[in-house]
Amino acid sequence: MCGIVGYIGKQDAKEILLKGLEKLEYRGYDSAGIAVKNADGIQVFKEKGRIADLRAIVDENVAANTGIGHTRWATHGVPNRSNAHPHQSTSGRLTLVHNGVIENYDLLKREYLQDVAFQSDTDTEVVVQLIEKFVNDGLEVEEAFRKTLTLLKGSYAFALLDSQNEQTIFVAKNKSPLLVGVGEGFNVVASDAMAMIQVTDQFLELMDKEMVIVTKDSVSIQKLDGAEVTREPFTAELDASDIEKGTYPHYMLKEIDEQPAVMRKIIQAYQNDEGKLTIDYNIAEAMNEADRVYIIACGTSYHAGLIGKQLIENMAKIPVEVHVASEFVYNMPLLSEKPLFIFISQSGETADSRAVLVAIKELGYKALTITNVPGSTLSREADYTLLLHAGPEIAVASTKAYTAQISVLAILANVTAAFRNQEVNFNLVKELGIVASAMEALCDSKEAMEEIAREYLSVTRNAFFIGRAMDYFVGLEGALKLKEISYIQAEGFAGGELKHGTIALIEDGTPVIALATQENVNLSIRGNVKEVAARGANPCIISMKGLETEGDRFVIPEVHELLTPLVSVIPLQLLAYYAALHRDCDVDKPRNLAKSVTVE
Ligand code: F6R
Repeated sequence: MCGIVGYIGKQDAKEILLKGLEKLEYRGYDSAGIAVKNADGIQVFKEKGRIADLRAIVDENVAANTGIGHTRWATHGVPNRSNAHPHQSTSGRLTLVHNGVIENYDLLKREYLQDVAFQSDTDTEVVVQLIEKFVNDGLEVEEAFRKTLTLLKGSYAFALLDSQNEQTIFVAKNKSPLLVGVGEGFNVVASDAMAMIQVTDQFLELMDKEMVIVTKDSVSIQKLDGAEVTREPFTAELDASDIEKGTYPHYMLKEIDEQPAVMRKIIQAYQNDEGKLTIDYNIAEAMNEADRVYIIACGTSYHAGLIGKQLIENMAKIPVEVHVASEFVYNMPLLSEKPLFIFISQSGETADSRAVLVAIKELGYKALTITNVPGSTLSREADYTLLLHAGPEIAVASTKAYTAQISVLAILANVTAAFRNQEVNFNLVKELGIVASAMEALCDSKEAMEEIAREYLSVTRNAFFIGRAMDYFVGLEGALKLKEISYIQAEGFAGGELKHGTIALIEDGTPVIALATQENVNLSIRGNVKEVAARGANPCIISMKGLETEGDRFVIPEVHELLTPLVSVIPLQLLAYYAALHRDCDVDKPRNLAKSVTVE
């Protein structure tokens, strides 16, 4: 979703900004722009489309050491050049980039800006015009910015330039992510440390409702009442090479291949010196005290949560409910007496999940966040955090974060079970090791999956994924992967449910991908496959070694029954990847999607 960068120092700002925006491309966007400032004033370049399109219109000769940049994922107004950021005030004095949504922008427009001729449909332009209005009323830019911030309702990360003040970038944050990076003789602003890791690894975290005055030699963090805040920078533990594609054609393929290594890293990260799995004592205690666990998440993370429920109920014997965050916040179920909330979020920034976190914190409940990003909003605002250790996930379609989420949930369930003296009759460390090897074998089966994708998915309009028990949940994830990157209408169904209506959609040749990895439902899912085949479907059975029968299209190595999703999802990720490739789709940056969904 929208991304912000800013630079103030001695170097060529436009190049640093453009490179920073390229690093933020993974978040998803549909237009981009930069503004650079020098003694001649502020110059704005913006364009619909990719950063490459923006690069093509940036004047190479413009020399400036200060600037701000933005990638926009349209919320207010279609993606076009005039709605792209930066936005300028009528006089051209002020230039603003914004990530977030201003809920009361229309009200502010009517109350304060009746006479202004707006150039865009965005809420952001209202903000920059409002700052200018207060400047015209006699306030200094800093004060006008502060006054404007106090009037805003909603979420924002802002970076503001004033053409009459070459020395400063004004910054503010509420609910949307934003960091200030510090360097020797320069400072930077970024939605994500990844954007500026090439220039610094020292970053200052910003809290909600803080405003920051950034010059090349200083950073002053203030609360909205003007009170100064002192804060030490943290070191972003990011390796610049983690965010390169290397020899891979796409990040998604690289990230699929990274899964065995991530699995081993997770085992290591959660093992103590004696090789026993361990998590923060307080988390195990909070789990033990809960009479019910509520897992809250969106999209792929929600699908991981569905598996997490099985793991926690099976090992720790605590009842679990799994909810889609955007529904839960407005339609809260009757809660148990001692609930514990678990937020699963790769990015740790998802606005829908955060809205639930804010609501349950107001009710006084405890929360654990499982995330890939230390210091992310959901991590900071929850009581406890468990990290995924998956390394940056750049492709919009989540792959390694999903398997990392399931692995960490398995570890949480296992350690909680030990805490509660619940017997678990298998060794999770050993079984996860077996999973890592099985994953490796699956990552080596690319040719087979490419062939299946060509055979079943290269021309179809739709596809179904069916499974029972855990396979059903993995089918939901397989369908999501396929639709988001290949644009094939794909649906995941419980094997037994298709015949209750949806089977009407089966036509001659409709691909039905069936998972058969669960012994207790193996015969029933095969029965469901026969039902669809009898109506003309083209079934493709992916089974687990030991449960296979003749005609199965692909057999995955055997792993512990509770951990099958960790391996059965890999063929589905590869199927989606190759289907998208065969259909000439932009695998890493699918249309309309954002990686970090920071609006509700
Ligand atoms: C799909 C995908 C999304 C995310 C969802 C939640 O591949 O990545 O469905 O899972 O937007 O994002 P996080 O996990 O960052 O909260």
